Amino acid sequence: MTVRISHSAEVRSFFEHAAGLTHDQGNPRLKQIVLRILQDSAKLIEDLAISDDEFWTAVDYLNRLGARGEAGLLVAGLGIEHFLDLLSDARDQLTGRTGGTPRTIEGPLYVAGAPLCEGEARLDDGLDPGTPMLLQGKVLDLDGQPIAGAIVDVWHANTRGLYSYFDPSQSEYNLRRRIRTDAQGRYRARSIVPSGYGCPADGPTQQCLDQLGRHGQRPAHIHFFISAPGHRHLTTQINLSGDQYLWDDFAYATRDGLIGEVTFAEDGAHGIAGRIAELNFDFRLQQATSSDDEQRSLRPRALQDH
Ligand SMILES: [Fe+2]
Repeated sequence: MTVRISHSAEVRSFFEHAAGLTHDQGNPRLKQIVLRILQDSAKLIEDLAISDDEFWTAVDYLNRLGARGEAGLLVAGLGIEHFLDLLSDARDQLTGRTGGTPRTIEGPLYVAGAPLCEGEARLDDGLDPGTPMLLQGKVLDLDGQPIAGAIVDVWHANTRGLYSYFDPSQSEYNLRRRIRTDAQGRYRARSIVPSGYGCPADGPTQQCLDQLGRHGQRPAHIHFFISAPGHRHLTTQINLSGDQYLWDDFAYATRDGLIGEVTFAEDGAHGIAGRIAELNFDFRLQQATSSDDEQRSLRPRALQDH
């Protein structure tokens, strides 16, 4: 027998009180959101006959998720971050704002304030014996014209699939740089080929994925923010060809138009000993229609710019 009370006038008014709608103090937008969460949670509890044990297991899960700092990982793994991209794409389609390099998820591991370099940069600190990688390309507008002075803000994992700051064994800003494009819109970076990675095996995100019968692996990839005055900020990633998880990414970040074709140059090319990976990738930016367009999202991040 399904018992439903959430639609009753008494419960509706109770939740309005809990969400602060019966007085003027506080934040009206947050009140609106909290009311909806309460109403929808109550409906879910009724519709799926959630038991008390299931409810308190969920509360405990949220505590453990926060304690491990994995909320950002879970929203990627459950596809909600990708859904935000799909929604932005649909809004763009409706307003005719199409073309250029596709957006894809930022993920939870960006750190602001990486060193700013002119035209080219070395991203790795030389301590990781990974395969050297030369990453280069141009930032262009939708007409194919180069954008000089664009900022290519790039970050990626090391050969163990770990990011500086989140992995305290790495040096400050290792595998993180901002590169300003030259007069021809070019950027060039020397680094090492990143590895893919998985969710922490003992963490709450992987625990949830296990219950869903899913893995928590990502293909090797390189993250970017691309920005330039007069152009729309782009958050994207290059996912590397040949990776077994390229189209089986637990975070759903791989998209058409974002595959990086890695080729290998012979020993001694570019003055570097050993096998060298080469990756060429051009970015195409839309025009900005407002100054807000030029800015990345204001979401809280690990470190602020300095
Ligand atoms: Fe990543």
